[in-house]
Order: sequence, then structure tokens, then C-alpha cells
Amino acid sequence: MTTEKILITGALGQIGTELTNRLVEIHGAENVVASGLDRWQKNLTSAAYYERMDVSNTQLVRQVIKDYEITTVYHLASLLSGTSEKQPLFAWKLNIEPLLNFCEMAREGLISKIFWPSSIAVFGKGIPKENVGQDVVLNPTTVYGISKMAGEKWCEYYFDKHGVDVRSIRYPGLISWKTPAGGGTTDYAVEIFYEAIEEKKYKSYITENTAMPMLYMDDAIEATLQLMAAPKEKLTVHTSYNLGGMTFTPKELAAEIKKEIPEFEISYEADFRQKIAESWPASIDDSIAKKDWDLNYTFDISEMTKDMLKNLRIKLKK
Ligand SMILES: NC(=O)c1ccc[n+]([C@@H]2O[C@H](COP(=O)([O-])OP(=O)(O)OC[C@H]3O[C@@H](n4cnc5c(N)ncnc54)[C@H](O)[C@@H]3O)[C@@H](O)[C@H]2O)c1
Repeated sequence: MTTEKILITGALGQIGTELTNRLVEIHGAENVVASGLDRWQKNLTSAAYYERMDVSNTQLVRQVIKDYEITTVYHLASLLSGTSEKQPLFAWKLNIEPLLNFCEMAREGLISKIFWPSSIAVFGKGIPKENVGQDVVLNPTTVYGISKMAGEKWCEYYFDKHGVDVRSIRYPGLISWKTPAGGGTTDYAVEIFYEAIEEKKYKSYITENTAMPMLYMDDAIEATLQLMAAPKEKLTVHTSYNLGGMTFTPKELAAEIKKEIPEFEISYEADFRQKIAESWPASIDDSIAKKDWDLNYTFDISEMTKDMLKNLRIKLKK
């Protein structure tokens, strides 16, 4: 039997929704507290408890941690890359301060383990495009990337100085059929499937040959759980682990979709997110995660495309 009591922030978001369901499967609904900005509604989450909570409200967060005797926090609430550029100062505050509060609570012994996601947005300008290593110099050019880089350094600081067990993954773009994307640069790779089914065409805001690393949600969730289950002494990266997933361009993804929907057509009209995408790597070296905690993937581009279309057709009743 588990003794972990889990709090998830941002539990109603793209990752949170699916991670919450998996944590409930593993630990039982009674041991999982979901939290988010929205009001509680029936069937909102599979967790037994839901707290409507702004993560910036330090006092309330502490109270919730104490009330439920939380041991482990999956802190997912943040402003994503596209939205952060529109509200830079707010994004900085939201993406950093609550993380520090959780690290402080761990330092005080109130909680024992934290998961906090970083992003491939930390890499930035001047970094080699292909097979980007764990320890390259980070040079983010976006508010989101800067906040993730700083967050990573804070995680390492709290581990080094105070032994805080905070674990992190640099997620690439995540693709899922269950929940819509939340304002990230890689959202095109989710939207394209909806429009392929409904309209048989899609206008991509990322140009045809821009490659970005992507990961199917099932693989992202399993990787997160694997990292959190790994023995602490096996972990050698205390900033955030590289995760590569798969790499493809809008053109390559469109070709995969065309195999399943032959009449599908793609067109291109770049917007502000193209510049963000250009500052990101095309592929990532995740050999350290593979070595430290046996990271592995189930989905490639073709398996993912088939699974997305199959599930979205059911969801959209098409
Ligand atoms: N989805 C991706 O492709 C991706 C890639 C890399 C990293 N990440 C990181 O993973 C985490 C989760 O991402 P996601 O895609 O699920 O994002 P999302 O935007 O879908 O979900 C984030 C959730 O946080 C909530 N939230 C926002 N402000 C809040 C606040 N003040 N208090 C409480 N809740 C608040 C939102 O309402 C939303 O439900 C984020 O830290 C993000 O930076 C995501």
C-alpha cells in the first residue's frame, strides 16, 4: 500500500488531466488531490479531492498541503510559451514564485518530493540544432524559456544546498487527444489532427520544414512516473532531464496524416510562434535519462498519428 499523498497543481491542464488519472490508477483516488483555477464540477477529475486554488496564494497552498498531509507535489501550473510572451512579467512571477514556495516547503520538511516540468525552451539561440546534449550552455530567448532555465537552476540549488528532492524533465512539445493544447508553440501538432478530421485541411503557423522534438502524451506521462519512482541516488541530473521523444516537421506530420486521410491538405502561414520555434532545437539527446532511470518510448510518428486519429474520431463522433 502506498503512503504517498499527492497534490497536483494545474491538474485541469493538458498534462495535469492525464497525469491525475494515472496517479489515481496507481495510488488510489483517496491519495490524490487535484487543484486548479476552475470551479469544481462533476466529473472534473478522477481524484477524490479537488481544491480550487491559485498557486500564487502561498498561504492557501500551505494550508492545503497541511490539511491533506501531502507528501508529493506535481507542480504543473504555469503560463506556456505563447501566452508568456504576451504577459512577460506575470509569466515570470507565476512560473517561478510558486516553485520556490514548494522548494521552501520541502526544505522545511513539510513535503518530501516535488516534480516540476521544464521545457526544451531553455535551450535558445546559438545552440546546435541536432541531438542537443544535456549540458549545453542554455541561452533562452523567450520569457518562458528564461523562467524555465531559472527554475531549473533553483531546483539544482535546493538539491545542492538543502537536499530537496525535486525532479524535472525538459518536456518537448506534447501531443494528446484528450485535452486541447494550452497556448504552446507546438500546439499545431495537436490542432492539425482536429482539423484533419473536421475540415480535411489545416493552415500551419509553423513553416513546413521546421523540425521540433515532440512526445506523445502517453510516453510523457510514463516518463514522468518513471522518473518519480527512480531511486534518488540513481539521479545525476538535478536541473532537468533532457527528453527527446521524436522529431518531425509539419510537412512530415501532414504526410503521415495523408496516409490515413488521403484528401487532407496542409498550407502554411507563419505567425509569432515561428520565431520561438526557430530558437528551439530540432532533436534532443536523452541518453542520460535512458541510463539513469530507464527512459523508453512506445510511440513513433506513425503510431502516434494512427492513435490520435482513432481516438479523436471517437471523441468528435466522426
Ligand atoms: N504541453 C507541453 O507541450 C509542455 C511542454 C513543456 C513543458 N510543459 C510544462 O508542463 C506544465 C503543464 O503544461 P500543460 O501543457 O498541461 O499546460 P496547460 O496550460 O494545459 O495547463 C496548465 C494549467 O495550470 C492552470 N493555471 C494557470 N495559472 C494558474 C494559477 N495561478 N494557479 C493554479 N493553476 C493555474 C491553468 O488553468 C491550466 O489548467 C507547465 O509547467 C508547462 O510549462 C508543457
